[in-house]
This record gives sequence, C-alpha cells and structure tokens, in this order.
Amino acid sequence: MVNEAVESFTRAEACATEEKDLESAAQYSAAMGLLLLSEQRYSEALAAYDRAVSRLPCSEEVWAARGEALCELGRFEEALDSQRKAIDLCSGPDPGLLYNVALTYAGMGDADGCGKALQKALDADRMQVMAIVQNFDGDGELFAQRRQDEAAFLTRRLQEADGDSERRRWQRLKEVVTALRQLEEDPAWLRDRLLDSASGRNQTAYGSTWIESFCHLADAGSLYCTGTAPQQMVVFGSSIGWQCFLGHLHLGYAPCRGFEILASQVQAAQRLAEELGLEDGVEFRCQDALEADVSEAGLVWLNTYAWPAEVKQRVAQKLLQELPEGSQVVSYEPIPTAGLCWQGRHLRLKASVNLEASWDPELTAEVHVFTLRTVYLVQMKKTAHIWPPKPHKTLPRP
Ligand SMILES: C[S@@+](CC[C@H](N)C(=O)[O-])C[C@H]1O[C@@H](n2cnc3c(N)ncnc32)[C@H](O)[C@@H]1O
Repeated sequence: MVNEAVESFTRAEACATEEKDLESAAQYSAAMGLLLLSEQRYSEALAAYDRAVSRLPCSEEVWAARGEALCELGRFEEALDSQRKAIDLCSGPDPGLLYNVALTYAGMGDADGCGKALQKALDADRMQVMAIVQNFDGDGELFAQRRQDEAAFLTRRLQEADGDSERRRWQRLKEVVTALRQLEEDPAWLRDRLLDSASGRNQTAYGSTWIESFCHLADAGSLYCTGTAPQQMVVFGSSIGWQCFLGHLHLGYAPCRGFEILASQVQAAQRLAEELGLEDGVEFRCQDALEADVSEAGLVWLNTYAWPAEVKQRVAQKLLQELPEGSQVVSYEPIPTAGLCWQGRHLRLKASVNLEASWDPELTAEVHVFTLRTVYLVQMKKTAHIWPPKPHKTLPRP
C-alpha cells in the first residue's frame, strides 16, 4: 500500500512538473516525504523534501519536515540549518519548531543547546509543548483544559470521600498527581528526558494515563490488591513512576517496583518518592524490565506498546514462565496470540476497557487485563510394555 501511494505521488509530481505547476509538484513531493518519514524511510523522505524545498522555498513546514528527516539520519548540523530556515519563515515563535530544535541538540548530546531551545519553546507556549511531549492528539489549549478536568476530578473525589481513611487516601492521591504533573512541566526534567532518550526515541516515548482512566480501569478490571493474592506490583517501563505511585496508594500493592531504562526518569521518580514520603511503598530501578523478578507479583503493568516486537514477545514469554498463578497483567494492547500460552500456562483475557490516555483524547486506547491460569491436563496412562518382556523375534533361518 505504501509503495503504491509513493508511486501515485511520483506520477502526480511528474505530471505537475510537466505542466510547470511547481507549487503542486512541491506539495506532492512534500506529501510523499511525510509518508516516507512515518515509514521511517528517512533517506527517501529527505530526497522528497529536497525536491519540495527547491520548488517551494518559502514553506516553513517543508523546511521543518526536511530538518526532521536530517535529524533522524544523524545529520544534525544540516538539520539545524533546515530548522532555522523554517523558524525564520515563521511570523512568530513556533513552540513545535523550537521543540524540534531541542530534539536535534539532544541528538548531538548538547545539553546546553537543548535546554536553551526547550526554554524558548516553553516561553512560546508551555501547554503546547506539554501536549507535544505527551503525544497528545490536540492543541495546548485542549491539553490545559484536560489537565484542569483531572484536577477537578480529584477535588470532587476528595470532597465526596467517606470517612477519615478514604479522605486521607484521596488527599494523598491528589498530592501525588499534582506533584507528577508539576514534574512534567519542569524544564530540567524535560531536557534530561530528551537527552536521555535521544538514541531510542520511539521505544522511550512518553505518555500518561489520566487519573480518571486509572480509577475506571481499577474498578472495571478488579485490579485491587486482595489479602489472598501476592502483594507486589511490577511496572515495565515505569517512567516517572505514575503507576507505581497509584498502584500503591489506590490499589494497595506494596512494594510497587518500577523498571525503567532511562536514568533521568528513575532519578526523578526516586526523588518524588522521598519528597512524598512513599519510599516504603514504591521502588524504582534503572534496569531492563526483562530482568525483573515477577515471581511474586500480584499485578504486572506493561507499558510496552512502543517497544520492539521481538522484545514484546520475550516479555510475554517471561510472564508465562515466571508469574505466580492468578496474577493479573495490564497491557495497553493485545498480547500476541503466540505469547498467550506455554506448557498449560495461559494469559487469559479478563477484561478489555476503552480508556482515555494522554496520547488519545478520542477514548479509543483499549486496555486489556489478563490473568495467569494454568490448565492441568489429566495425563493419559500409556500402557508401557514392561512385563512380560516382548517376545524376542527370531529371524527366520535361511
Ligand atoms: C510510554 S512510557 C511509560 C509511561 C507510562 N504510561 C506512565 O504513565 O508512566 C514507556 C517507558 O518504557 C521505557 N522502556 C523502554 N524499553 C524498556 C525496557 N526494556 N525496560 C524498561 N523500560 C523500558 C521507556 O524508556 C519509557 O519511559
């Protein structure tokens, strides 16, 4: 399909060039560039953008996209040139463009350049940058509104809380969510995250689940820790610790152990745990989640949706082999069928819930809850021929 689309764009571009309609030709090559960029075919995308800028040199969008392709190819100085051209063509400071410049500096490992560009982006429109960081499918205004709704939800739940212990719980939840949302706005954290994740941006993409969604999933999937189930929770890709904090305060697990490969995220989560006095309930490790001990986990939370397919397969195999009976697994995507069964042990789908996540305001992120179950097969007795011994066949004499 993609190759067919590229062919169609190529033909349309050639026709427009023949008819001397250079603007249309540039638009076809830019559209092709965008498609190839999304397919991670960066060299071809760059070639398409080169053609587009030569015909339409006044389009900031095309210069910006060309910069993105160059950045992905590791040609950072050229990327910066292209991005600066885009900025010069803009009527005012564009937070998205400035954020892309910060990404390029991060790729170069230039912390100072990254921090300065990021600060300019935040000064231009803080909420727009937040929306970009959270992969939010909407503008800064919508994002700010969504955050206010979340804060209002917490205030309401606190007001409606019945009894002292409920009130204390909602008070703690409100403190934690407020602290996490503040951290997400901290320029130093944003910069460190960009620098830290420069070499594997897809796998380390950021996003968060709104507290309303978390509470809804907790009820719909019956995720609460019970007296009889194992008390530990393990989070794969814990980032700044959202699910560990909420798993401890709202679901009642302890310890809630997060595994995360980005050191900046682990340090930030640890700092928060100390500030909030929650070190006894949550723990964060800068370690590959494939090395996590899940043998005593009552709940495993997977943030693996952007991880490579081969790693996801290994995660599923690990869970099947190591989880205790009855453990629950939360995943933001279905687990591949091949990873659902091993030697009688199954990850059985318990619930699928449509949830709103930061990266999806359309309520379409489907979250799945699985339970580890073992099916014990009744072994059929084989009638072994042990006694009397098999009659020895004597070869017929010639
Ligand atoms: C999308 S984020 C998780 C955000 C999460 N939804 C939240 O609310 O906090 C996924 C995280 O997984 C981390 N990650 C990627 N591969 C990993 C691995 N092999 N082991 C542990 N963490 C990993 C990334 O660095 C990234 O921070």
